[in-house]
Amino acid sequence: MPSSLMTIESLSLDSADEGLMMDMRPRPLNLENRSMEEKSLNELAKGMEPVKSSERLEALASPSLSIRSFLGTPRSSCHTPFAPHPMVADAWENLRKSLVYYRGKPVGTIAALDSTEEALNYNQVFVRDFFPSALAFLMNGEPEIVKNFLLKTLHLQAWEKRIDCFTLGEGVMPASFKVLHDPERHTDILIADFGESAIGRVAPVDSGFWWIILLRAYIKCTGDHSLADMPDIQRGMRLILTLCLSEGFDTFPTLLCADGCCMIDRRMGIYGYPIEIQALFFLALRCARVLLKPEGGGKEFIERIDKRLHALSYHMRTYFWLDHEQLNNIYRYKTEEYSHTAVNKFNVIPDSIPDWVFDFMPMRGGYFVGNVSPARVDFRWFCLGNCVAILSSLATPEQASAIMDLFEERWEDLIGDMPLKIAYPTLENHEWRIVTGCDPKNTRWSYHNGGSWPVLLWLLTAACIKTGRPQIARKAIELMERRLAKDHWPEYYDGKNGRLIGKQARKYQTWSIAGYLVSKMMLEDPSHLGMISLEEDKRILKPRLTRSVSWTC
Ligand code: GLC
Repeated sequence: MPSSLMTIESLSLDSADEGLMMDMRPRPLNLENRSMEEKSLNELAKGMEPVKSSERLEALASPSLSIRSFLGTPRSSCHTPFAPHPMVADAWENLRKSLVYYRGKPVGTIAALDSTEEALNYNQVFVRDFFPSALAFLMNGEPEIVKNFLLKTLHLQAWEKRIDCFTLGEGVMPASFKVLHDPERHTDILIADFGESAIGRVAPVDSGFWWIILLRAYIKCTGDHSLADMPDIQRGMRLILTLCLSEGFDTFPTLLCADGCCMIDRRMGIYGYPIEIQALFFLALRCARVLLKPEGGGKEFIERIDKRLHALSYHMRTYFWLDHEQLNNIYRYKTEEYSHTAVNKFNVIPDSIPDWVFDFMPMRGGYFVGNVSPARVDFRWFCLGNCVAILSSLATPEQASAIMDLFEERWEDLIGDMPLKIAYPTLENHEWRIVTGCDPKNTRWSYHNGGSWPVLLWLLTAACIKTGRPQIARKAIELMERRLAKDHWPEYYDGKNGRLIGKQARKYQTWSIAGYLVSKMMLEDPSHLGMISLEEDKRILKPRLTRSVSWTC
């Protein structure tokens, strides 16, 4: 669905954004003025053209471009044990074509450059999609674009965000934005989507987390602490934290979410406490912990982060963890237990364990399940959350290596012919009808419903390096290199083994391209891992892994 122009950066506002954004204040709510403004800006935008990134290709020959990048992968020819794969040069070329410029500066990468499909919102810069692009540029010694992106999205965060008559929290970061060119005024303007245009109207809970994680990656890579120390950046972080650390009716330290609020951005039954968000939440809290300055209210946030990290790691490591032993525990659960001595705290009915879990769970291996809430465990395996759990050290070292064991033990199911399954297994028939609302895009073994997403390769590779098992990543990369470029870098693959190019997959999907490059660069120089990985913090308590005894923090 093309973005509505509900939130559009007015030209006057925009002119201030090149500075340090010291005066950034949310605009006051004024319904009448707002609709006038929307209308006029809607009209205005009709005469504008989306800025085609390829048109700006020439502008790439800027001094900020390192010579290496023209030659394919950086450092590849010098000390690599592998000859650079021809796909690498192709990938860099396509990644550069996807750059989006705002007033002459690169600010992000477009989601997909597929001219054969309707653009919908694939012509936008998605915050989550930009993450692997950002890593590729950082690893290639080109941090400027990442800095521009961080500042530009910070600016967008300050917009007033509304869906119908309802105002979203101040800290919400956009799912995506696009740059339009006004030929009459010879200027670029920005349009952002905070969920009000997205299919299903869901706000992206993950965007703010990716933003904080990227900020740390940028600082880790460049050593440029001045960016994180800027008062506006500190404020942006505090606004995001205000949203996710607020106290309410919650009895769990996990974050309650609507369906479709992250990479899986359509109804897929992940509402509640999805693993993807919990793992990103944990990683973002750990990153914010090192970036926040105590001044200006930061100290109070640091204290709240410490408490939350402690509770969150206990909850996740204890209740979301599933291996053969845990499965057996749940299988033998008694129900209707009351009081603190309850073993089956969430009253999970053993009959609700789906049959496939018994076949899928190897004797060696384990994973964090998709969701845990009262009487509801989503036993599905989700890739992103499990890999981020490893990178953030939400997983204990034992759990991290059990997740890697699972990849080995269930290679056909999780990697198959094309890495990497987004979720396993698929929802079919009645369950598909009820859970997805009969979504034709999410039919069995397709898209979010058991499809295979090349972008996830960078996460697998990072997890492999962290756990000391790079050979797993090498095997997956080899599989990918057989097809991905020949198939023109699709967004996703379909089928039980990922053999078919996805039904509605875009070609030249930027994060498929960037994910491949990041994987290659990390394997070549594993020190890059430090940008996205955090070692276990001994102060975050290591709880016991069993559910068989009640345990109080
Ligand atoms: C799809 C994906 C989402 C991604 C977007 C742009 O909607 O589900 O995660 O951000 O495409 O690529």
